[in-house]
Amino acid sequence: LKAKLLGEIEAASDLDALEALRVATLGKAGSVTGLLKTLGGMTPDERQAEGPQIHGLREAVTAAIAARKAALEGAALDAKLAGETLDMTLPAAAAAKGSVHPVSQVMDELAEIFADMGFAVATGPEIEDDWRNFTALNIPETHPARAMHDTFYFPEVGESAAQRMLLRTHTSPVQIRTMMSEEPPIRIIAPGRVYRSDSDATHTPMFHQVEGLVIDRGIHMGHLKWTLETFLKAFFERDDIVLRLRPSYFPFTEPSAEVDVGYAHEKGRRIVGGNGDDAGHAWMELLGSGMVSRRVIANCGLDPDEWQGFAFGIGIDRIAMLKYGMDDLRAFFDGDLRWLAHYGFGA
Ligand code: PHE
Repeated sequence: LKAKLLGEIEAASDLDALEALRVATLGKAGSVTGLLKTLGGMTPDERQAEGPQIHGLREAVTAAIAARKAALEGAALDAKLAGETLDMTLPAAAAAKGSVHPVSQVMDELAEIFADMGFAVATGPEIEDDWRNFTALNIPETHPARAMHDTFYFPEVGESAAQRMLLRTHTSPVQIRTMMSEEPPIRIIAPGRVYRSDSDATHTPMFHQVEGLVIDRGIHMGHLKWTLETFLKAFFERDDIVLRLRPSYFPFTEPSAEVDVGYAHEKGRRIVGGNGDDAGHAWMELLGSGMVSRRVIANCGLDPDEWQGFAFGIGIDRIAMLKYGMDDLRAFFDGDLRWLAHYGFGA
């Protein structure tokens, strides 16, 4: 009997068949259980003779079932693993890729182009004091130019108005910081965020500028014009850039010039390089510039008879719009991936 039962258990082909065998042998009405019950009706002598055999049978059957069960479970797991193999050579599902924002990209391009002309990158804080943002730049408290630079002021912390903190309205305070901390000759650009209370299709309350500053002996407007022309040709990657310098006014430059670039329309997209005087062409105001005012140079502790220089401030978002044919400045800061993708940025 024992050999027969163990043979059956060993032959059980799956866990269900094994469970059926367990019930048929060790279950309440099972054959082995039935044998165990017969022990109760035996004489002590019979019991002594039969007992060990019947108990031995039960133990052997129990052990055989456990062993077969482990084997069947192992096989089931092996089969499952075999069926679930990962094919490591299959291409992975495409995931969305991040990309550089057009403004960041333009800032990188700017830094690269100006680096080729020997300019270092300088930075300053976005929370600036009144003196560096205005007063040192020849814009005193009562100056009307302050109205164009209406900004966000912080509650007064300093002793005097000059120490009042504000969100910088332009990158020009970096001119002050650089002239006060470095010995001329100076050649820097300073890209960064600036703030004004302004919002429409071509103005956002936060936007980006890059300041340029050159301080050396014998610097004149010709150097300014050459620098801007060289930069714009490299940036727009074309030689037929037309620039227009318009006399203008900034309290911190004298003389001052606003620089426009001529652009044409091509397939509904603005492109730089058209002659602004022709019909269908137009000028786009790109930047403010001029010779650094003697007063500003003196405010920074330098002798204006020895040191001269020029400065310019370019709207980064503006030139990015022009380069990539975008027409709403606000969209730059909406973080809309579809808009970015439309202009070729991102996945
Ligand atoms: N800071 C000026 C502005 O924001 C631009 C400028 C910079 C003009 C440097 C002249 C020289 O409008």
